[in-house]
Amino acid sequence: MAQANTYDGRSTTPEGMPFRVALIGAGGIANAHYKGYTAAGAVIVGFVDPFEPTRTRREKEWKITGYSSFEELLASEKFEAVSVCTPNAYHAPASIQAALAGKHVLCEKPLSMSLADCEKMILAATDAGVVLQTGHHLRANLLVEKTKELISSGAIGRVTFIRLRQTHDWGGNKTVADSFGKLANSGGGTLLDNGCHMFDLARNLGGNVKNIFARTATLGFDIEVEDVANASLAFESGAIGSVESSWTATGWEEGWWVYGTDGALECTNRLGTRKLRHVHRSSSGTDWNTLDETIYSFADEGGHSREIVAFISSVRHGTPVICTGQDGLESVRLVLKAYESAKLGQPLELK
Ligand SMILES: NC(=O)c1ccc[n+]([C@@H]2O[C@H](COP(=O)([O-])OP(=O)(O)OC[C@H]3O[C@@H](n4cnc5c(N)ncnc54)[C@H](O)[C@@H]3O)[C@@H](O)[C@H]2O)c1
Repeated sequence: MAQANTYDGRSTTPEGMPFRVALIGAGGIANAHYKGYTAAGAVIVGFVDPFEPTRTRREKEWKITGYSSFEELLASEKFEAVSVCTPNAYHAPASIQAALAGKHVLCEKPLSMSLADCEKMILAATDAGVVLQTGHHLRANLLVEKTKELISSGAIGRVTFIRLRQTHDWGGNKTVADSFGKLANSGGGTLLDNGCHMFDLARNLGGNVKNIFARTATLGFDIEVEDVANASLAFESGAIGSVESSWTATGWEEGWWVYGTDGALECTNRLGTRKLRHVHRSSSGTDWNTLDETIYSFADEGGHSREIVAFISSVRHGTPVICTGQDGLESVRLVLKAYESAKLGQPLELK
């Protein structure tokens, strides 16, 4: 029987089997997946990582077996799904291999580095009848959900401007890891890495983008890809917006600002624990600087953990995939169009 998407992963199939999943890639983000599946009551049967020191470290930490290849994992463990947490260059081969083996796939962002590869991943999942979810975890963030709900309810009137920002400085490191700094591994710099989340958020909050004009530069690190970028957007709705991404900010910021004809929504983690601020003019007598405000906050915004619960629910109960392969492809399309625009120095239409 269909279930509400409050499914928490502790439930079992009619056959009584808990959700069994493997992690492909065991670096930084894999740990968020490990924690998310563990919190959801899933069984993580093992992981794949070709780098022996990482396998040894994670085996000790996670107390599960690490394999050097997907083939070894497949021969040794029974599971129904994988999380692909490899560098970008391996998202397509790893996801396609898993789909061909009949495994559902939650693939980290960006879905891949080319539209052709994204299409191959979507086709492989469709042919195999498995779920393909893209890891834009902000889709499952409670503050993003509240932002979207307020926009949809008309609480801020007609949306006029959407500003999206994701920036950091690698925790103050003076170098960038090769998996991100070398073009062959990453396929792009901060605009692909951080910007793809923001382009997905742009689509989620503002709908389709019809025109884009971007600038990129490499100013802070000796790397092959850009470390600062800005893209100006025109939405089909008539609203305009911007995506700002950087590896040369000091510290981490993720925020979104949505202006409408009857109010604004503002949310950033720059100044501490993030709250969504809805500013409006509901009282009489408000002036330039005195505004009504309604604040929304959650003890746990839950992006990574909630995207995993949603993935399990889609696999087990057929609930809608919160960020599909096509959504992943569309954010890559925007990044690639932004790169083309930056190279040509001119705005470009999406179609
Ligand atoms: N959703 C998010 O907010 C978020 C955050 C960070 C990273 N990411 C994405 O997650 C991916 C991994 O990033 P990370 O920060 O964990 O990088 P990382 O370098 O810390 O980890 C990548 C791991 O993959 C392993 N690996 C390399 N090739 C492999 C292969 N063919 N098969 C299996 N494992 C392989 C590496 O040995 C390494 O342990 C990237 O695509 C990145 O864009 C997403």
